[in-house]
Amino acid sequence: MKNFTKAALSLSVAALLGGCNGTGPNVEKQASDDAVPVYKPYREQYRPQFHYTPKKNWMNDPNGLVYHDGEYHMFYQYNPYGDRWGHMSWGHAISTDLVHWEEQGVAILEDEDYMIFSGSAVVDHGNTTGFGTDENPAMVAIYTGHSQVPGGDQNQQLAYSTDNGRTWTKYEGNPVLDENMEHFRDPKVVWHEESEQWLMIITLSEDFAVNFYGSPNLKDWTLLSQFTAEGAPVDKNWECPDMWYLPIDGDPNNKRWVLEVDLGDGSIAGGSGGMYFIGDFDGETFTTDTSILPDSAEGPHQFVDFGADYYAAVSWSNVPEDDGRALWVGWMNNWDYANYIPTHPWRSSQSIPRSVGLTEFNGGLAMAQQPVEELKALRTREITAENQSLSNNRVSLTDSAGIYGQTLELKVTFEPEDADEFGIDVLVGDGEKTTISYNVHSEEISFDRSQSGDVDFHEKFSGVHVAPMPLDDGKVELHIFVDWSSVEVFAHRGAVVFSNKVFPHHESKGVEVFSRGGTTRISDIQAWPLKSIWQ
Ligand code: FRU
Repeated sequence: MKNFTKAALSLSVAALLGGCNGTGPNVEKQASDDAVPVYKPYREQYRPQFHYTPKKNWMNDPNGLVYHDGEYHMFYQYNPYGDRWGHMSWGHAISTDLVHWEEQGVAILEDEDYMIFSGSAVVDHGNTTGFGTDENPAMVAIYTGHSQVPGGDQNQQLAYSTDNGRTWTKYEGNPVLDENMEHFRDPKVVWHEESEQWLMIITLSEDFAVNFYGSPNLKDWTLLSQFTAEGAPVDKNWECPDMWYLPIDGDPNNKRWVLEVDLGDGSIAGGSGGMYFIGDFDGETFTTDTSILPDSAEGPHQFVDFGADYYAAVSWSNVPEDDGRALWVGWMNNWDYANYIPTHPWRSSQSIPRSVGLTEFNGGLAMAQQPVEELKALRTREITAENQSLSNNRVSLTDSAGIYGQTLELKVTFEPEDADEFGIDVLVGDGEKTTISYNVHSEEISFDRSQSGDVDFHEKFSGVHVAPMPLDDGKVELHIFVDWSSVEVFAHRGAVVFSNKVFPHHESKGVEVFSRGGTTRISDIQAWPLKSIWQ
C-alpha cells in the first residue's frame, strides 16, 4: 500500500541527526560536545514561528476543519507515539483567529481494529444524526477507518462531540459506509443546500476516481455518481478530495464549482501535490468544463500549488455566512521525503491559512489563493525601501533598507524594461539563498531551493520548481511569507503559489533583489518582520 508502508521506514542517519546541529540564539544551553543542544520549546532549530506545528511528534494532513461558536478547529493526522508516520489518530488544535493555535489532547485515538485516517467534520445543526440536540448540535467527524489488519478494508466511520470538540465518542454503528475496498478514503462531507442532504466526496484512491454519496443523516449513504478525468495524472493514487462553489474575482453572482483532488505522486514539483477541476455540479454529478482552462493547462486539471510542500489541503466547514470566505490550509510536506525532514521533536507543519476564489488567468480561469487577512496581526513595524531601477546588477535590501529576517512578510513589484530575468533572494547567508525569479522570455516564474540550506537529508528535496505565468499588466507582484523553515510565495493575484520547506542556517536572513541582462524597475517594496505565535 502506498503510504501505509510508511510505518515500516528505516531510520536514516540524517534524520536522526537532523535538528541537532544548531548553536543559534535559540539554544538555551549546550551540555557537552557529544550531547545534543537543549532548546526552549517552540524555539528549536527550524521550528516554524507562525505556522502550526504540534509540540512533538509526527503530523500530516489537516482533518476535520470546522468553525463552531467562535472557534476554528483544526484536527490533523497525528502519531501520538513518535515522530514518523504511524498509529494514525486525530490530533487537535483550536484558534479563535486562524493565527494563534492551542494544541489540545488527542481527539480520536486509533484502536485495535482501526487507525483513524483523514476525513472531515461538520456541525449537525439540524440534529440529523440524533447525536446532539437542537439547542446543542453535535460536532460530527466523518473519517476513514483503516484496518489494522494488513490488506484489510478502508471504510467510513463517525465520531461525535457534544462539548465543542473537547471529547469524542466513536459511533457504535460504525462503519457507516463500507464498500469492501482496500483503497477508499478521505471523506469530505458538506451540507448541500439545494438538495437538502449531506454530500460525501471521497476517493477510490487506486482507481483514480471520486465517488459522490448523499445522506439525510450522515449514517445512511447512497451512491450518486462517480467522477474520473481522462488526461489527469494517475501516477500513484488520488486522496483527500474537496469541493467548493467559488466566486470569480470576488463576484458572488458569478460562481463556478471546483473539485480538488490530491495526487500521491506525479505533481508539478515532483512527488505529492494537489490538482483541481473547474466545472459544474448539479447535486449529483460533477462535470469538468475544459473550455475555461488557461492556455498553459495540459490536461483537464490545473495544479493547486507549484511548490513541493502543499498537500492534502481541505477547507473549513461552517464558516459563518457573514464571513463567507472559502478558507483552507494544507500540509507543508511531501511524501517523497516527509519522514526525513530534519526537525525534532516534531515533524511537519501546516501552511498559513488561505482564502480561496477563482480569477482570470492566462486566457482562462484559475484558483486564486490569498493569505488570510488575520495574519496582519503578526506584523510588527512596516519597512519600506526606495524604488529601484536595476540594470544588470543586484541590491541588498538588508544593507540599503534594513529588510531582513527569518520571520518576514514581503511585498514587491517588478516591471521589466529590457531585462531577461529578475527576482528576489530571501534567507540569504553564507553560501545560502532561496531564489524566486522570473524569466521574461519563457514567461515562467521559478523557485530555487537548491542552495537554501540543508538540502542533503533526501535526494528528492533539492531543486527548482517552475510555473508558467504571463506578466500581469507588464508586472510581477510578489507577496512572500518567510518562516524559520518555509517560504510561501503568492504571485499573479494568487493564481500562482509556491509553498516550500527550506532548512537554512539561523543566520541566513538577508534579502536581495536582482535584474539580469538589462533593466528592471522594482517598486512598492514593503516588509514586515513578523511576531512569533508561540510567545
Ligand atoms: C494523505 C493520506 C490520506 C490518508 C492519510 C493517512 O496524505 O495518505 O490518504 O487518509 O494520509 O495518514
